[in-house]
Amino acid sequence: MTVLWNTEERYGWVAILLHWLMAALILGQFTLGFVMTRTDDQRLAFERIQLHKSIGLTLLALAAVRIVWRLANRQPHLPDLPRAEARAARMVHAVLYALLLVLPLSGWALVSSSVLEIPTMPFGLLVLPNLPLDVSEAAEAFWASVHRWIGWGAIALVCLHVLAALRHHFWLRDNILLRMVGAERRE
Ligand code: HEM
Ligand code: HEM
Repeated sequence: MTVLWNTEERYGWVAILLHWLMAALILGQFTLGFVMTRTDDQRLAFERIQLHKSIGLTLLALAAVRIVWRLANRQPHLPDLPRAEARAARMVHAVLYALLLVLPLSGWALVSSSVLEIPTMPFGLLVLPNLPLDVSEAAEAFWASVHRWIGWGAIALVCLHVLAALRHHFWLRDNILLRMVGAERRE
């Protein structure tokens, strides 16, 4: 039975829930980010951007919880893999964790440096303070392109990550994908 904490063989429910909740929200964010920057109706675009900011900041909070949980837990062993492959997996996971922080932070930097000075109110609950950054058109353009490039880079890395997971499941036929859903393969 899968419990809350990770063991050497499997992920616990907290890690599993955080993984899939954040994966779903991030895929939603990519889509929303893409759609909202191509929405002609100004009012609709504004509402979509507000939602994008609220979900993005929720993801930032979840990232902090997830990283603390990761550090407090042991890590399930990888199956027998060539050393380079195991190292690549660990590296991709570390970069994904870094992106979970850097991507929303770059969005926060972008709205903080915007000359429009529109307040950020996650789900209308509170006013988020701006980061102490230069407010100018040049700074806004800089952070917008940083956010965009990190966003597109993250999409590429997530695709690689998903392909690797599918390869483990359908080709190598190991437990890697199953243990991320709390199941295991029956022989
Ligand atoms: C994991 C979280 C996030 C993801 C995956 C994400 C992703 C994206 C993507 C894909 C775009 C469209 C880029 C383009 O093609 O032009 C975008 C734009 C944008 N994002 Fe995010 N974002 C995240 C968090 C945030 C946060 C926390 C904020 C602000 C508090 C934010 C503010 C914005 C803004 C204002 C734009 C429009 C930029 C422009 O006008 O070019 N994002 N985001
Ligand atoms: C935005 C989307 C995603 C992000 C940011 C993400 C991030 C991560 C991270 C950081 C880990 C390492 C967990 C740890 O060891 O602490 C991980 C593990 C994993 N992810 Fe994702 N993931 C995403 C989507 C997906 C999807 C769609 C799939 C499935 C097709 C998937 C399958 C897996 C599997 C199977 C593992 C476990 C690897 C292992 O046991 O070592 N992920 N993911």
